[in-house]
Amino acid sequence: MLILSPSILAADFTRLGEQIGETVQAGAGYIHFDVMDGMFVPQISFGMPVLETIRGCTDKVFDVHLMIEDPGRYIEAFAKAGADVITVHAEACTHLDRVIGQIKAAGKRAGVALNPATSLKALDYVLDELDMVLIMTVNPGFGGQKLIPYCLQKVRELRTVCRERGLAMDIQVDGGIKVSNAKEVIEAGANVLVGGSAVFSGDVTANTKAFMEVFAGFEAL
Ligand code: DX5
Ligand code: ZN
Repeated sequence: MLILSPSILAADFTRLGEQIGETVQAGAGYIHFDVMDGMFVPQISFGMPVLETIRGCTDKVFDVHLMIEDPGRYIEAFAKAGADVITVHAEACTHLDRVIGQIKAAGKRAGVALNPATSLKALDYVLDELDMVLIMTVNPGFGGQKLIPYCLQKVRELRTVCRERGLAMDIQVDGGIKVSNAKEVIEAGANVLVGGSAVFSGDVTANTKAFMEVFAGFEAL
């Protein structure tokens, strides 16, 4: 199933609840919540208090992307604040297997994100434990960047591995995803597309619907 997960990092923070409502109304299936600590990535964004506040805006899946050092420290807190999927960076975890266990012990779906230069091999021994893999299609830390083309090869390879292992997991792409490249990333094997600036710059409803139109072309197949 194809899912649009709008990244609220790109939203108008003075109208956050309203814009979440607009994009959900127009078809967004998840809401992507980019947590940045200024250490793992240069930017600082937002955390648990904001998640708690907007939790009430929708019952859609909150897909929390932790771009923070040593995320194991905050799994409980984000689970309590309302996360449904918690995604940590393999590069930020000394003990990745243990952090995945923490996410599942908290009753949440577990995702692992890989930066562009990080090999899929980093997931070899934990892939079967995961609900989602986030393939970064930009270097994390900012919205509005351009997709890095070689990352799509990683998506293709991951989809092949999932097929070989009989794993039906979400493959998410995040960074520089536009309506104009959505078809290409879906054909590569992604089924959860994060759109930040592509959704929240300009008309949120129209932007969301434009992604839905691309999705409809696949669902009709
Ligand atoms: C980047 C974040 C992305 C970003 C997406 O570090 O993980 O989710 O906000 O924004 P766009 O879609 O504008 O690249
Ligand atoms: Zn993200």
